[in-house]
Amino acid sequence: MHVDDHAEPGGHVPVMLRRVLELLAPALSGPHPVLVDANLGLGGHAEALLAAHPDLHLIGIDRDPTAIERSTARLAPYAGRTTLVRAVSDELPDVLARAGHPRVDGVLFDLGVSSPQLDEAERGFAYSYDAPLDMRMDPEQELTADVVVNTYSEGELARVLRDYGEERFAARVARLIVRERASRPITSTKRLAEIVRDAIPAATRRTGGNPAKRTFQGLRIEVNGELTALERALPEALDALKVGGRVVVLSYHSLEDRLTKQVLTARTRDTSPPGLPVPLPAHQPRFRLVTRGAELPDEEEVARNPRAASARLRAAERIREPE
Ligand SMILES: C[S@@+](CC[C@H](N)C(=O)[O-])C[C@H]1O[C@@H](n2cnc3c(N)ncnc32)[C@H](O)[C@@H]1O
Repeated sequence: MHVDDHAEPGGHVPVMLRRVLELLAPALSGPHPVLVDANLGLGGHAEALLAAHPDLHLIGIDRDPTAIERSTARLAPYAGRTTLVRAVSDELPDVLARAGHPRVDGVLFDLGVSSPQLDEAERGFAYSYDAPLDMRMDPEQELTADVVVNTYSEGELARVLRDYGEERFAARVARLIVRERASRPITSTKRLAEIVRDAIPAATRRTGGNPAKRTFQGLRIEVNGELTALERALPEALDALKVGGRVVVLSYHSLEDRLTKQVLTARTRDTSPPGLPVPLPAHQPRFRLVTRGAELPDEEEVARNPRAASARLRAAERIREPE
C-alpha cells in the first residue's frame, strides 16, 4: 500500500510515516511481532503498520477517549490484531501485563496533541478560536488550563510559561495574568491571548508568529503533565523491548526532543570506568542509536502538512538483555 493511502479524514498524513515504517520494519520482521503505539491519536501510524505487517499485534494507547473511539472505528478491519486501551503512556508496564505481552518488539511515540484536539475549538487548545480555557486531553481529569491560569501563584505561572513555554517574557505575562484575574477570572482563550499580547513588548510582538503560542504550549504541557509522562514512559518502553526491538520517538518541541535525547544517550553509552584493558560486560550499553541526531521531515512533507514542520525523530534498538 502506498504511504499516502493513510491520509486521515481531514487530509492529514501521519507525520514522517515512511521513515517510521522503515525504522520499525527490522524489529517487526520476526514471527508474531508486537508493537505498542503509545500515542494512538487517529490511528494513522497504527493503520499503516498493521497493513505493512500482516502478523503484527498492535497495542494502542491514548488518554483521550475520543481518540480511542475514532481509532477503534478506523482500525475495525484489524480488530483481531489490536488491543486499544485508554491510559496514560506511563502506565505502560500495567497495560503490557494486562495484554499478556510484557516484552515487545517496538514502541512508537508520536507525542503532543492531535489534529482533532487542535481543531475542535471547544477543547480550548487553540488561541485561534474563542473557547473556554480547558486543554485537557483526558476530559475527566480535574486540572484544566482555567485552574492553572486562575489559581496558580504568579511565581508558579512564570515557571510554567518559562520552563514549558520557553517564553522569554514569562514574568511579565504572569504578572499581567495575576493583575487581570483580580478584577474578573480569565475563562476564555481569546481573553488570555489578548492579555499575553498586551504583556509582550511591542517591538517583539511585531516579529515571529502569534505571541500567545508559547504561553498556550506551556499551559498545555502543565495541564497534561506531558513531560512528566514522557520522562517515565520512555524508560519503561526501553525496558520492555526484546533484543532487536526498537523505539521510535517523534517530538514536536525542543523540550520533548531534549528529554528524548538525554534518555536515549544515557542508555546507549558504555559506562565502564575509563582506562580498563577490557570492557566490563555489566557496563556495556544495552541499546544503540539507529538515528544520527534528530531527523527532520523533508520540505515536501512540510509543504503538504505544516503541522509536521516542528517534528524531530529519534530511534534506538535494544542490542543486549539487561544484566
Ligand atoms: C500527535 S497525536 C498521535 C497521532 C497518531 N500517531 C496518528 O497517526 O493518528 C498524539 C496523541 O497522543 C495522545 N497523548 C498525548 N500524551 C499522552 C500520554 N502521556 N499518554 C497517552 N496518550 C497521550 C493525545 O491524546 C493524542 O491523541
